[in-house]
Amino acid sequence: MRQRVSHKKQGKLERPRGTRDFLPEEMEKRRHVERIMRKIAESYGYREVCTPTFEHLELFTIKSGEQIVEEIYSFKDKGGRDLALRPELTAPVMRMFVNECSVMPRPLRFYYFANCFRYERPQKGRYREFWQFGVELIGSDEPESEAEVIALASRILDELGIDYELHVGHVGILRNVLRGVEDEISSKIFRLIDKGQLDELRELMLSSGLESLYNDVEAVIQAESLEDLPESAGKENVSRLKRVCELLDVYGVKYYVDTGVVRGLDYYTGIVFEVYAEGLGAQKQICGGGSYRLAHLFGGEDVPSTGFAIGFDRVMEICGLKPAEKRRVAVVHANQLEEAVKLAERLRRELPECVIVTDVMGRNLRKQLSHFSDFDFAVIVGKKEVEKGLYTLKDLKSGKQEELDFEELVNRLKSTRQGTQSI
Ligand code: HAM
Repeated sequence: MRQRVSHKKQGKLERPRGTRDFLPEEMEKRRHVERIMRKIAESYGYREVCTPTFEHLELFTIKSGEQIVEEIYSFKDKGGRDLALRPELTAPVMRMFVNECSVMPRPLRFYYFANCFRYERPQKGRYREFWQFGVELIGSDEPESEAEVIALASRILDELGIDYELHVGHVGILRNVLRGVEDEISSKIFRLIDKGQLDELRELMLSSGLESLYNDVEAVIQAESLEDLPESAGKENVSRLKRVCELLDVYGVKYYVDTGVVRGLDYYTGIVFEVYAEGLGAQKQICGGGSYRLAHLFGGEDVPSTGFAIGFDRVMEICGLKPAEKRRVAVVHANQLEEAVKLAERLRRELPECVIVTDVMGRNLRKQLSHFSDFDFAVIVGKKEVEKGLYTLKDLKSGKQEELDFEELVNRLKSTRQGTQSI
């Protein structure tokens, strides 16, 4: 019998293991970084899509097999259907493509920013609910589409000021070396290579009677250039990888050729790539992607596609970017609550770039000023001034104040930029 784990601590309900709460400061940073990612993807012609948070379980088992169920949140709904919270978005986007977009002109350039769920052991950089920013370029089997997708990932990470290493390989190379090997064994081999467990790999290959192939596998994993690859790598695979590298040079992308990159997911068929960054401990992979074919498994035609997903939470751990602070203005009053509320509403319309707040705690003027003392400005609404149509603008950093009518007030707040000018 499974032991029930308590979700209460000192009488308080806790959030589920592997999930997080985000407070305003963190959310502002996350939204800022998200906006940068969106802006760059859109500048390359990618448009946002959104798919359901949960899908039929079969969508994820169809390619990866039943063992994937161990790693995902799956459940039966009240109608007895087997469903799963999405562990990633490539399969959902391809299902959507087959359902909704198969007659649209190609290529299709989609991007997404969404939460994913995996039943993993939580640790630094590894969560049970996490966010991915990803793209899928659907309908092209050309090296230029692969280079574009890789260049886009690299451009986003550059723009975020992240220090990273991009490794580009071709999964077809190892597939070619291992052709003829039983599916079950070759998928174990791929898994061990993906996890970097090279001793276990050697042991498995030798105990499965594959010693003659082992040297070639080792040569592929350790190759430092395309010239080091064995004959069995396959000419077509090698020349494709070479062409993609030439195009990456045109984009000015910095990369390592790494034919040991095989990716953990089973659907890749061609070029694959991974991005690693320091400062994350064991979970250093911040982005992964490649070319794949999935549409035919979901009832569509066999459509080649390429994509990637950036681990947004991992990027957030190492990205120092912050949004510019907004000017904060408090409209305070001496028993003139309604006038203050009216003024604040007018100011919000005129100054959408500012934060404009009024007291909602029934405080007197002195207490309002003390509560808002870390703001940039206070606009003081007093009875006499209201009668004259004037307001007092107080610069809370310098202490200076002046009386202004509404138009002057707006102009003054517009012209004083955060931290650079005061009145
Ligand atoms: P993936 O490598 O499984 O690929 O995930 C992409 C990224 O998501 C990883 O590089 C990592 O940064 C982040 N990630 C994965 N698991 C977790 C976790 N438990 N906690 C935090 N971050 C995590 C895919 O998902 C593919 N769908 C990518 C793709 C798109 N391939 C083609 N198109």
